[in-house]
Amino acid sequence: MACDSYMVQLTLDGMQATERLARVLAGCLRKGDFIALAGALGAGKTTLARCLVQTLVPGEEVPSPTFTLVQAYDAPGLRIAHADLYRLRSEREIVELGFDEALEAGVLIVEWPDRMGGLMPADRLDIILEVDDGVEERRTKIIGRGAWAERLRGLHRARSLS
Ligand SMILES: Nc1ncnc2c1ncn2[C@@H]1O[C@H](COP(=O)(O)OP(=O)(O)OP(=O)(O)O)[C@@H](O)[C@H]1O
Ligand SMILES: [Mg+2]
Repeated sequence: MACDSYMVQLTLDGMQATERLARVLAGCLRKGDFIALAGALGAGKTTLARCLVQTLVPGEEVPSPTFTLVQAYDAPGLRIAHADLYRLRSEREIVELGFDEALEAGVLIVEWPDRMGGLMPADRLDIILEVDDGVEERRTKIIGRGAWAERLRGLHRARSLS
């Protein structure tokens, strides 16, 4: 029976582990994918998004889109939109950010996805990062929802995530 969600918990003990996770995820991304990056200020959301983009577009700078709200990158055959909704004032503003078009053209990675409320797609990969003060280690919960549940289970079974 298909499950609605599938969770993997990982401890990323530093940048190399974060880069490895980004490579695994980047390797299976396709048009229409939505990745929600949650976690407190400084948890490492932008860092993981940057690693993902840089895996697909080597050498790209990938600044935090805190002020631009959304930033797009062109990977071969796939556009990647990276958004940070921390400064979003209302859900209505989301319409102006062109998320529907971003998902049609490629992958959408969103920091502070809770700002989207009910506008978050049901098929998505949730990544929740937690960090304690002064340590490099990031505790990570990765949850595949809807169609992502089977995909994440497949990655986990193939031992791609460890
Ligand atoms: N896996 C990691 N290992 C070690 N340091 C990390 C890791 N991920 C992030 N950091 C460091 O933590 C700091 C904050 O990271 P980052 O900007 O990615 O957080 P954020 O969750 O995007 O924060 P914000 O909520 O402000 O957007 C940076 O100095 C970054 O280098
Ligand atoms: Mg950030």
